Amino acid sequence: MYHLFSKITVPICAFIIVTISACAVNSNVKILNDNKITLPTIVSKNGKHAFLVDNKPYLILGTQTNNSANYPGALKDVWPAVKKTYANTLSIPIAWEQVEPVEGKFDFSFLDSLIKQAQENDVRLTLLWFATWKNNAPHYAPSWVKLDNKRFPRVMKKDGSLLNSMSPLGENTLAADKKAFIELMRYLKVNDPTHTVIMVQVENEVGTYGSKRDFSPLAQKVFEQLVPQALINGLALDKTGNWSEVFGDNADEYFHAWYIARFCQEITVAGKAIKNLPINVNVALRNPFFPGDGYSMGGPTDNVIDLWKIAAPDVDMITPDIYFRDHKTVSKVLELYSRADNPLFVSEIGNDQPYSRYFFSTLGQQGIGFSPFGLDYTDYYNYPLGAKKVDDETIAPFAENYKLLKPMADVWAKLSFEGEVWGVSEPFDTQQSQKKVWNAQATQAEKDSYAENSAKENAHHYTQKLDLGLWDAEVTYGRPMFWIDPPVGNTPSSGGALIAKLSENEFLVTAYRARITFSPSNEITAPYHMVERVEEGHFENGKWIFERVWNGDQTDWGLNFTSRPHVLKVTMAAYHP
Ligand code: DGJ
Repeated sequence: MYHLFSKITVPICAFIIVTISACAVNSNVKILNDNKITLPTIVSKNGKHAFLVDNKPYLILGTQTNNSANYPGALKDVWPAVKKTYANTLSIPIAWEQVEPVEGKFDFSFLDSLIKQAQENDVRLTLLWFATWKNNAPHYAPSWVKLDNKRFPRVMKKDGSLLNSMSPLGENTLAADKKAFIELMRYLKVNDPTHTVIMVQVENEVGTYGSKRDFSPLAQKVFEQLVPQALINGLALDKTGNWSEVFGDNADEYFHAWYIARFCQEITVAGKAIKNLPINVNVALRNPFFPGDGYSMGGPTDNVIDLWKIAAPDVDMITPDIYFRDHKTVSKVLELYSRADNPLFVSEIGNDQPYSRYFFSTLGQQGIGFSPFGLDYTDYYNYPLGAKKVDDETIAPFAENYKLLKPMADVWAKLSFEGEVWGVSEPFDTQQSQKKVWNAQATQAEKDSYAENSAKENAHHYTQKLDLGLWDAEVTYGRPMFWIDPPVGNTPSSGGALIAKLSENEFLVTAYRARITFSPSNEITAPYHMVERVEEGHFENGKWIFERVWNGDQTDWGLNFTSRPHVLKVTMAAYHP
């Protein structure tokens, strides 16, 4: 048995302890001793993040249920799919209407069943607080809220008509939502001492379709007041004034975003004061390349992330819900939501095959988790966003990813936080053109231009180059395991690769349906180089278990990964004559 981290274990442990004590932002971190079950928390250092669960870096290998799975009777259709997916975490709604059907009378019996069954299934939970906003509307608010527009006002359009989306300026709405959320967190504090619930999402895809803001007389009055100084300072603006004076054409949207973010901030702070769990806010994305103005205004879309960070500093993560299928758009979204002040967690992504490969690029952006939507047997399919059905075939591409990472999830999460990692997904989109969703797909013209070229000229479409420091890596897709035929891509596009640096010359490497070739960068001056050793193995409780050495055909033509999980430790070497 060979311990992969024999050379680096001590510095890593020391670093984690230093890191945790250095993260004053997360004041709830109380690591007293190994036996104490501490709260899950996010720690950040040098622009990188770790999600600590049970004191250890945790990688969310998640799935999210369909919307109406939040009742004990539905759970029997959830766990079998979670198991088949090899998920370690389930995201599931908890609705305001179900916990407070009558004002002031709370019923959390669903959570009794949910938490018990999650423990029996060895799965952690993230709860989704469906309340004032569930994709724009208050559908999940209790009737005493959603039918009383006087007490709980909706957004008014410019023409005076109402939208079925709550105004973020409704003080009663905030007070009532906050009260119920506090009860939820109190329930968790009392009834979930071992933190089966590791994160809570505030609201769901907040924002409003159909108006850039609330134009009611109340909102108009606030709109004409000075922009809050905190926002002026936070954005380092050199002028003050009312919203129109400061933000011009963007004033309506920024105003709405600010007050929705402040609403979420208040809910978050109130909840954290009871039980200090990580809080995320998910976002109905706008297309980063063709935003238009038909998206959910006021939510944390890419143009207002900075504003949201200023307005809602206690929200730990703004998390993208990805329903774009094409590589270019998904890559851009991952880049936009992976920031020094925002750990990347893909809180939703479509459950169809083309999306599964983005697990690799999510981890390549130091993602702390990935959670495809609607992977359960409750008999609902959100095609064309997701798959047309949920069966073994639908689950398989997601399951193979989690099967590969599950034995080394903590190892990966630690390397991602402390070291350098890379992850890429196959770049060429092979999906059949189908009903367009928000300009998500490659145009026909783009596809045609690829088709005209020869295989060699096309190779770059299926090739990615990574700068690993002293060494470079090339990842190619769809080529035979033996010899040098150019890559032609997989059909369907489904490959992905992960690399983590263990030392300057040592890498942990895994992939599906890809060839990975290492070569020296110009930082290496020695004229000769070689693959010194490639070990195949696996991890058990964080320890590397050696299985065999790859050599000969297995290394002469690069490292060729198929649909079987293989984890390698690669040592490269350079030498002088
Ligand atoms: C995004 C939402 O957050 C989900 O709850 C769900 O409604 C999907 N859209 C569509 O199935």
